[in-house]
Amino acid sequence: MGFRSIEELCTELNEKRTKALAGGGDEAVSKQKSKGKGTARERIAQLLDPGSFVEIDEFVTHRCNNFGLEERKPLGDGVVTGWGAIDGRKVFVFSQDFTVFGGSLGEKHADKICKVMDMAMQMGCPVIGINDSGGARIQEAIDALNGYGKIFKRNTLASGVIPQISIIMGPTAGGAVYSPALTDFIFMVDKESIMHITGPEVIRAVTGEAITSEELGGAKTHNNVSGVAHFEAKDEAECFEQVRKVLSYLPSNNLDDAPFKPSNDDINRADISLREIVPVNPNKGYDVHEVITKVLDDCEFTEVQAGYAKNIVTGYGRIGGRSVGIIANNADVMAGCLDINASDKASRFIRHCDAFNLPIVTFVDVPGYLPGTDQENGGIIRKGAKLLYAYSEATVPLISVILRKAYGGAYLAMSSKSLGADVVLAWPQAEIAVMGAEGAASIVFKKEIEAADDPSAKRLEKIDEYREAFANPYRAAERGYVDRVIMPEETRRALYIALEGIESKREIARPSKKHGVIPH
Ligand code: HXC
Repeated sequence: MGFRSIEELCTELNEKRTKALAGGGDEAVSKQKSKGKGTARERIAQLLDPGSFVEIDEFVTHRCNNFGLEERKPLGDGVVTGWGAIDGRKVFVFSQDFTVFGGSLGEKHADKICKVMDMAMQMGCPVIGINDSGGARIQEAIDALNGYGKIFKRNTLASGVIPQISIIMGPTAGGAVYSPALTDFIFMVDKESIMHITGPEVIRAVTGEAITSEELGGAKTHNNVSGVAHFEAKDEAECFEQVRKVLSYLPSNNLDDAPFKPSNDDINRADISLREIVPVNPNKGYDVHEVITKVLDDCEFTEVQAGYAKNIVTGYGRIGGRSVGIIANNADVMAGCLDINASDKASRFIRHCDAFNLPIVTFVDVPGYLPGTDQENGGIIRKGAKLLYAYSEATVPLISVILRKAYGGAYLAMSSKSLGADVVLAWPQAEIAVMGAEGAASIVFKKEIEAADDPSAKRLEKIDEYREAFANPYRAAERGYVDRVIMPEETRRALYIALEGIESKREIARPSKKHGVIPH
């Protein structure tokens, strides 16, 4: 008996490395490429800073002996894991390898994912998952399901502690969609990503409905209809750019501050064109994106869920180099009314910003909640309550800018002073009231209008009277519900000053509790 030489041992290691790198073999890799998809390792390389990836667990194999799997033990078990850097900051990653058993998730595959999730939590770094998988590995049965369960538990415990990003670059079906749904953001690629609980075949068998995978669970559906996804990219390269961009606004964990990114954009830049964007006539629409971009550093706004519930806008920007979360009513869509979907979208984003120490700037121009049986039956009461809850529980700096309408319950819901806004700014055309002048005059002066010789002339007179008295920011400013009335062009500087003024905000002691019971 003798020892093998170090050369022999190194050759063996090299062979194993080569085998691991081959994934599911040339044929499977060509099939993957022919669909326009990258391999698991190519995707990681595109996502991370060049040369920064450190792979672990490349020799892990499954231990399943069912259905001939004992004869096939590919190294790495269908998922590539490790860590690397994005803009020089450490992130943990896993990337499912569809060329190995269709990226399906078995016991050891799941263990590898859990290991990088645990490491990400311990090191306080984001975790990014690239999902491309046929779901639970059928041969591993209950062990595969248990693997998903362990991932779901970790997703939940990591929520609000480290940013969790899910990239969907292939199929995701059955309960497998729930891990992405438990993370902060889902990124999908047009014509490549699919997410659904039950596929077209099952739907056809159960309900008789014929629908394609793409229509059912493609990027467009989840970005524009269901609200499950948050970003849509035209291809994989664009998707990775989007992920890198989003992470640039976020701290690595809930105890850190977001990266400071100085800009040459003068904080005193006064954009006079802001005076023209929001019409003084409250019945006229405009695109609130124009207001948002004009006040942010370098006019750069990164929108989140751009295709869903467009009556409210959510996203990130920077003011004086600091990351902020933006929420804004969009008067161009449904006059900026709040509805079920807008309430869902905004409250989740508020909680995300609150968890990761991002101050929230809210641009308000809201006529109220959307009336209708659909809305009432769909639970606008609990959804609207969720928005109230999200702002009320937030402890990050909250700044509001009332651009124009702020009526009734919707005024309160949009980061009002009473819910805890630290600084409320208002433009001169702001109208803070229980309702618009037309509705209010018709109710308050009903008898007087009816008794008049010319009721419609009387009505107009009373509307003017009401507008003159209440449709302005000064009644609210007299009471201190508005802290400052500013010219539109002063907004950028006013936001900067406000952020500086309240950046040292500390949480005021609240009654101790395990957690609240948020309306859903
Ligand atoms: C084991 C799987 C697999 C799976 C695919 N493969 N899915 N192996 N378990 N779940 C294997 C295939 O056998 C094949 O192996 C290889 O992966 C590539 O698959 P193809 O079918 O050739 O690829 P394609 O035509 O692109 O179709 C991809 C697919 C299809 C749409 C994902 O494979 C598919 O429908 N798979 C089953 C999906 C599914 O029902 N999964 C279970 C969902 S339930 P070979 O050796 O031939 O190359 C679930 C529960 C989770 O996930 C619950 C969590 C709580």
